[in-house]
Amino acid sequence: MAAPKKRHAVREFQGFTGEPGPGDVVIIGAGLAGLFTALKLAPLPVTVIAAAPLGEGASSMWAQGGIAAAVGEGDSTAKHAADTIEAGAGIVDPKVAHLVAEEGPDRIRDLLGYGVPFDRDLEGHYVLSKEAAHSEKRVVRVSGDKAGAAIMQALIAAVRATPSIRVLEGYEADDLIVTNNRVEGVRLIRPTALGNGRYAFVPASAVILATGGVGALFALTTNPPYAKGEALAMAARAGAVIADPEFVQFHPTAIDAGIDPAPLATEALRGEGATLVNSEGGRFMLAIDPRGELAPRDVVARAVYNELNAGRPVYLDCRAAIGEHFEKEFPTVWGHCRRAGIDPSKDLIPVAPAEHYHMGGIATDSNGRTSLTGLWAVGEVASTGLHGANRLASNSLLEAVVFGARVANDIRDLLPHDRIGNFVIPHRIPGSGRAADTASRQEALKTLRSIMTKYVGVQRSGTGLKTALAKLTALSDASSNDRVLSNMLLAARLIAAAALMRKESRGGHYRTDYPHTNPLLAHRTFITLADLDALDETTKMPTDALPVAACS
Ligand code: SIN
Repeated sequence: MAAPKKRHAVREFQGFTGEPGPGDVVIIGAGLAGLFTALKLAPLPVTVIAAAPLGEGASSMWAQGGIAAAVGEGDSTAKHAADTIEAGAGIVDPKVAHLVAEEGPDRIRDLLGYGVPFDRDLEGHYVLSKEAAHSEKRVVRVSGDKAGAAIMQALIAAVRATPSIRVLEGYEADDLIVTNNRVEGVRLIRPTALGNGRYAFVPASAVILATGGVGALFALTTNPPYAKGEALAMAARAGAVIADPEFVQFHPTAIDAGIDPAPLATEALRGEGATLVNSEGGRFMLAIDPRGELAPRDVVARAVYNELNAGRPVYLDCRAAIGEHFEKEFPTVWGHCRRAGIDPSKDLIPVAPAEHYHMGGIATDSNGRTSLTGLWAVGEVASTGLHGANRLASNSLLEAVVFGARVANDIRDLLPHDRIGNFVIPHRIPGSGRAADTASRQEALKTLRSIMTKYVGVQRSGTGLKTALAKLTALSDASSNDRVLSNMLLAARLIAAAALMRKESRGGHYRTDYPHTNPLLAHRTFITLADLDALDETTKMPTDALPVAACS
């Protein structure tokens, strides 16, 4: 069979086509990727747009495991890259895996420089955790399971103390401003200001999207509600190439206590020996994979899903392995459990798989450049080729800092260093931007999230995905006045369409009608809005129409 045509590879970015425009470098998103990039750009003037007060809206704040980096004795960057490539199920870009593993230890040192108190032993060596599919103990942590919060607190303090960084809290971007094929700024709204047609325009010499993931598109997620996938939609509408959107990672052990978003029980618990048992009291993972509870995340998530589907509730049993040390070793999970009325040193923790991480995103090169002039992407919203079909645990924070530094280096030399006065231009667009009222938006969101979890979740099928696309398109037609909702629906359609076209199972993408991996499909997906629009999202959709292109 002939090699797949490379129709939609990331277009080579040619640099700015003209003089840099007026305005700061504008970063949309204030998680680890956004803040680290802002700090690395200093003293260049940067404006960070945050939907919530700093620290409150970001998934990074909730990260429990830590940062994977080859800093332990006996470990090497080659081993880290090899594990990343292996976990990614055949479609990781090896160049990217190596560069991220190699630059990891330096970025850990950067974080130490910003004051992150990584756990060390008495001799000053990092205390490292082990997580699934890592061949070594490699996850650098803080106070057990508080890595995300500790890193974010250190970076927020550093950002607040950096005069060149201006933070605009309480605004969301809902569109990119594109002039002459170049991204020149962003359009902002107040999340609470529905239906009044008022926007703020922010001109930008460069725009960096760092908005995080897509968890809010799913009914069960470990992400904060701000992880809406809107930047995927904004970038796609402006013409950017989106890569691998079908690859969504479901975490097997979200705490199933009826809380939205679902609190996480970190994989490091299983690294310490916690086991998964079903309601009949038996361990089931060893019968499925010799690595048991530390099999790759997609394998464990599917096993938990199947148990639940068969009517057998699943629990994480930490009693023997962690027991009375729980509160000290895993204070975050302890708190989540106690709030749900569970004592994990004595009780089983009920768990279910929940959307946790999007491997796909806006396609970037190894400097974080997207296919659009003037636009970069970093962190979960980007698809760099590092994660392939299944992200290796704790590689996400690492990717955020490695690419944050790369994006900053890439932009720094291109721009003038003076801050320009025209910061935010309030603008009223009569009659436009009328959002749906809050109640109907909430109703539509509920429908969207249930469609995604039911048809585009842990297990997918051609019939289900076609149903999802038809329903999403109908919802989209009915929501065209509401840009926030339209953005979420467009992101959802990109994920569902790519999942429909990938007729195999690979990593986080599992199709009941194509349960095996097809070696001929060992390549990444690249898709544009034009590709999506060319498809009929109903059953008439031509099932071979979407291009998949070889990676490299
Ligand atoms: C976890 O702590 O289990 C999550 C870590 C990750 O998603 O990388």
